[in-house]
Amino acid sequence: MMKYKNLGKNGPKVSLVGLGFWQAGGRQWKYSSPNWIKEVVEAAHARGINFLDTAEIYGNGRSEQLLGRALKELGLREEFIVASKIAGYRVIEWDIMKGIDGITRRLGSKPDIVQAHWPPPIIVDVCRIVRSLEKAVIMGKTGYYGLSNYPGNLLSKALECSKRIEPVSNQIQYHLGYRSGENDVFPVAERSGVGILAWSPLAKGALAGLREAKDPAQKRDPVFKAVARDDRLQKTLDTIARKYETSIASVSLAWIIAKGAIPIPGTRKPMRVKEYALAVDVELSSEDINLLDEVTRVYVSRWGDSYRALQYMRYIPCLFQRLAIKVMRGV
Ligand SMILES: NC(=O)c1ccc[n+]([C@@H]2O[C@H](COP(=O)([O-])OP(=O)(O)OC[C@H]3O[C@@H](n4cnc5c(N)ncnc54)[C@H](OP(=O)(O)O)[C@@H]3O)[C@@H](O)[C@H]2O)c1
Repeated sequence: MMKYKNLGKNGPKVSLVGLGFWQAGGRQWKYSSPNWIKEVVEAAHARGINFLDTAEIYGNGRSEQLLGRALKELGLREEFIVASKIAGYRVIEWDIMKGIDGITRRLGSKPDIVQAHWPPPIIVDVCRIVRSLEKAVIMGKTGYYGLSNYPGNLLSKALECSKRIEPVSNQIQYHLGYRSGENDVFPVAERSGVGILAWSPLAKGALAGLREAKDPAQKRDPVFKAVARDDRLQKTLDTIARKYETSIASVSLAWIIAKGAIPIPGTRKPMRVKEYALAVDVELSSEDINLLDEVTRVYVSRWGDSYRALQYMRYIPCLFQRLAIKVMRGV
């Protein structure tokens, strides 16, 4: 049965497993027909998953549009906490507000949580982003705000400058094959009560047992490749999955839940939603958690000693970021 907890200290009650919707329109997932989106949402509802994640850059707004339409047609909007993200190139208050208005238009309803997708370029003060998001909450444009891809030092800075309302979450890449957040983000989040949302919790399928890349998102990802080729990790996951009579994906997600983060796996296949939801029932023993920790120790520093995913964006001026994403028509 699904379990729930508050996101961060003061956030909404969310299921211990959420769902990501990059696949719903994202170019890197070879988007095709929108029919499955409704089925995925229905399956999530049936299994008690109540947290859905999308972003304005996924398919250039298409993910938000299709998710919003599915929720409306199913009459299920009120049943879910829907989080979206404004692009990290929005660094001026009016542009941040414009970004949130765009999300509301495409979703067909106000987002429950608006996240800043990645930190601003180094020359921009993080406080500007935080104050604008606080204002958006006060103005009622969204219920809560969160951050994404903020390393520990920037998360601390963001917390220092939040005057009235703190972020409820920081969404970072976190899974068995990418653990650098444990060095910097986790200690800050634990001290401050910020919730951690884990993106790519299945290493784009490699932590579900997929050994060969199929979609561009997997082919371009060095993390997918490293995990898919890691025979010791794959064998350990297989052994533990057999022991608990569950799937490899459920074990990988259960490990994230045991670490206190909320995984948001994506899928284009409604049947996978059940497997994802079942992860909350897999209570890994401390021996098995220690074994997985030990087998993946290399990934605590393999990608850097502090959390770095998407940090390169901080060195690209906003205008170029915006242009590149526009030319690519989203990601
Ligand atoms: N904040 C950020 O910067 C950021 C970055 C990336 C992602 N995200 C969010 O995180 C969500 C999830 O991350 P993600 O999409 O990168 O990856 P993920 O959840 O780690 O992996 C999802 C993919 O794994 C595949 N998969 C699952 N089980 C499988 C199995 N048994 N065999 C083969 N393939 C399997 C699925 O393929 P099928 O589709 O065929 O089921 C799915 O597309 C996204 O949707 C998005 O909302 C956020």
